Amino acid sequence: MRRTGGWPAAFLLLAAWAAHADETAGRPHHESPAPVAALPGATPCPSRGESLGGIAAPAHAAATLAPHRAAVASAYPLATEAGEAMLKRGGNAFDAAVAVSAALAVVEPTSSGLGGGGFYLLHRASDRFETMLDAREKAPAAASRDMYLDAEGNPVERASTVGARAAAIPGEPAAFEYLAEHFGRLPLAVSLAPAIRLAREGFPLYARLQNAIRFKHELLLHSPAAAKVFLTADGQVPELGAIIRQPELAQTLEAIAAQGAKGFYRGRVAEDLVRGARAEGGIWTRADLESYRVIERKPLVGRFGEARIVSASPPSSGGVALIDALHILSGYDLPRLGAVTRKHLVIEAMQRAFRDRAVYLGDPDFVEMPLAQLTSVDYAAGQRSSIRLDKAMPSDLLPGVEPAPVGPSTTHLSVLDAAGNEVAATISINLFFGSGVMPAGTGVFLNDTMDDFSVKPNTPNAFGLVGNQQNDIQPGKRPLSSMTPSFVTTPSGTMIIGTPGGSYIISMVILGTLDYLEGQSAAQIVSDPRYHHQFLPDVVEYEPGAFTPAEVSALAAMGHQLEQGTRRWGNMEVITWDFASGKVEAASDPRGEGSGLVY
Ligand code: DON
Repeated sequence: MRRTGGWPAAFLLLAAWAAHADETAGRPHHESPAPVAALPGATPCPSRGESLGGIAAPAHAAATLAPHRAAVASAYPLATEAGEAMLKRGGNAFDAAVAVSAALAVVEPTSSGLGGGGFYLLHRASDRFETMLDAREKAPAAASRDMYLDAEGNPVERASTVGARAAAIPGEPAAFEYLAEHFGRLPLAVSLAPAIRLAREGFPLYARLQNAIRFKHELLLHSPAAAKVFLTADGQVPELGAIIRQPELAQTLEAIAAQGAKGFYRGRVAEDLVRGARAEGGIWTRADLESYRVIERKPLVGRFGEARIVSASPPSSGGVALIDALHILSGYDLPRLGAVTRKHLVIEAMQRAFRDRAVYLGDPDFVEMPLAQLTSVDYAAGQRSSIRLDKAMPSDLLPGVEPAPVGPSTTHLSVLDAAGNEVAATISINLFFGSGVMPAGTGVFLNDTMDDFSVKPNTPNAFGLVGNQQNDIQPGKRPLSSMTPSFVTTPSGTMIIGTPGGSYIISMVILGTLDYLEGQSAAQIVSDPRYHHQFLPDVVEYEPGAFTPAEVSALAAMGHQLEQGTRRWGNMEVITWDFASGKVEAASDPRGEGSGLVY
């Protein structure tokens, strides 16, 4: 790929120089980017080490909040109902989030589970405390930078996506304990009960899961414990409606219910996990499991018009990219622009935000990142100055460092309780059924999240994302993620949003945010056709219906390379709450089989 480092670098320099202290004055510390005078990446990191804790959200602008109802939205109705059951038993949104996540581990095992991890964005109503639980998987201690490369230094195909060497140390069980102990009201024995029952008694096989089993048939055949659960006795894909029982997963959940995180990271389950991983070529040790900890990090905060955006901080790239893109767009009067110009600008903003993802982001405990710059309005102004209203910017003219199909793995849940507590959680085992390895006796699929590292600089991962040494593999490091659980709050209401979809997640949340701020309902937001640009490849992918034929021609004439995707992406879960009327809406993406319920 041709690359020129010339004039766009100058724009970035200008952007950095343009930091005006007065524009950030008066904001709380966590939102105040320090003025900087150097290129991003050349500056000592202001964010390193300041990861612990949370922030206090401003009071809602509405003088009095009308009474409102609670809501849960998740990727499968049985999981949504598990959340409802907790709210009805006197649990809060955080208890419901545990119940929904655990139920999804059982009924949507393609997408998330005890063998994976994710990010829980929390808003506690009583003191408006906001925090992010980083329950992202971490690299085992024996991991090394070049572990997926052959003798010639080339990536070994599928080494970071299939088999136990692809698995990082899971975070989800630790998140359950952390949520229950620090935020919930109910013991894990109560909040895990629906999941335990679903695992033990079983649930009827549904079409989306059946398709996933068919798609990964070979992988499941390879793992006897997984085949026993998800295939028939003669190794075939079960019929729709067949009851899927997972007795070993029920036992693992029971161990967590009885002992908390210890039930997973120590003792019998830990032994089985390590033995099973190592038998399949993995490098896990008991010490890796015992040392896993959830890290509470400050969420990222940005502004877009009168909306306050709260989103995931690194090691997710989601919040940085979302806020950066919205800051770029905040320089335009979008509602007054024609549809083509508007879509063009959104694409240009996505492209620039994804470029920064590739260049700068990684695990904040390992690398330095110019986070304050990347999320400052001044930096965005610099990026905006390289955007033309009539012409697409080729990615190879932006300084910096290619794509794959998006499967419906990873999952998101949104919860609002009647007290106003909010949870947006995106959780994952990465690709369909993770690494495909299910250690005997555990019922747990090991993730393949190691593929979210940059296994070799500038070499695309399963989502076509590139990175550099910022996201290289190091023992104990957490791979960069695109998961973007977010809250978008205006003086009149709030939205809880998130979705699976690999790199597409970020674009989907950008579009969902713009839709919400335009006044669309939760049902419209999850349904709208989507488009996406991730810097490399320099292509705008779009779902059928995202652009009219006239828009396709106009955007192409501006220089955009457009490709209509063959599949629809995402499985978005949205809750909206109108402060004045108390009206709450919950909607689950029509692309999936989930449900959003208001109680
Ligand atoms: O953390 C990430 O960015 C990826 N592991 C998410 C994977 C995903 O969303 C797969 N879904 N389609």
